[in-house]
Amino acid sequence: GVVKKILVIPGDGIGQEVTAWGQKVLVSIAQNYKHEFTFEEGIMGHVAIEATGEPLPDETLEKARNSDAILFGAIGHAKYDNDPTLKVRPEQGLLKIRKELGLYANLRPIKLFDELLEASSIKPEILRGSDILFFRELTGDVYFGEKKRSDDRQSASDLMIYHRYEVERIARKAYEAARTRRNKLCSVDKANVLEASRLWREVMQEVAKDYPDVETEHMFIDNAAMQLIKDPKRFDVVVTGNLFGDILTDEASQIAGSMGMLASASVGDSTGFYEPIHGSAHDIAGKGIANPLAAILSAALMLDISFGLKTESQRVIKAVEATLRQGFRTMDIANKHTENGFIMGTDAMGAKVLENLN
Ligand code: IPM
Ligand code: MN
Repeated sequence: GVVKKILVIPGDGIGQEVTAWGQKVLVSIAQNYKHEFTFEEGIMGHVAIEATGEPLPDETLEKARNSDAILFGAIGHAKYDNDPTLKVRPEQGLLKIRKELGLYANLRPIKLFDELLEASSIKPEILRGSDILFFRELTGDVYFGEKKRSDDRQSASDLMIYHRYEVERIARKAYEAARTRRNKLCSVDKANVLEASRLWREVMQEVAKDYPDVETEHMFIDNAAMQLIKDPKRFDVVVTGNLFGDILTDEASQIAGSMGMLASASVGDSTGFYEPIHGSAHDIAGKGIANPLAAILSAALMLDISFGLKTESQRVIKAVEATLRQGFRTMDIANKHTENGFIMGTDAMGAKVLENLN
């Protein structure tokens, strides 16, 4: 077996409830397959601000650097959403750890479990067979460009900036992935208006020459947002910038039935970082009704991508599939079509997956 050190950062809101299940799944896998996983815990986000005044304390960052992989929950708190004047904000913790660890590629696989065909608000015949892998650039763009507020406070700006090397490295990662899938890549930008997007497209076209076996398509973000709902099956690998990727993948979550189902992997220079794409959901935090499947599937991604444990990763995905097939649902994936289904809370759902794992 392998020996790995995993840092768990539950973060805020439902992150606390769902991350515990990602960890339990990892413990169970370690037992079944004779691996040795050790766990440490770190704080980040609102909980860290409350405890230390900082959204990402140095101690957490240090632990992150010393771990083989990180399992993260969610970040954010209503208090900040309703008060834009607050200077220290939970999200800064997440942005900082992405930057510090060089996590420039955010992989967001969108795959519909057949059992959830009816849970989406999109027609089943449009959805069936959809399988998209998003590559969202994660450490550049308007997220990290210079932020300004004029002296009279009457205007504000965020600089949208990309450097050639930033586009090139994510382009290559996306192309390599396309080669292991259906050999199709769609790059999304707004090159008809934005200079940063024109650089993006220029670099994509150059890198494309090294991958003549992959069919490349360029699409404007507005059109992509429409095509995604109209005909999701036309997409295989989609690569895009930080902001467009943030928005497009929330939209794409409807293709997978719910935000509660989607896991993501952030990789780059070092330690991989695994997190659900959903947020802290303070409206349901503490109620024990959040869907733990995105956190569990994030653990599955960790096994595959950071540890190269493909069999173990597939075992987790199969356990999730089996749980859905048995009719078990959390609130977010239940609907009027759920016949003979059992709507349950976070812990009951997590326990079902564990049962199916053993
Ligand atoms: C995400 C989140 C973050 C982002 C926030 C919490 C900073 O929405 O991971 O998609 O915008 O990247
Ligand atoms: Mn987001």
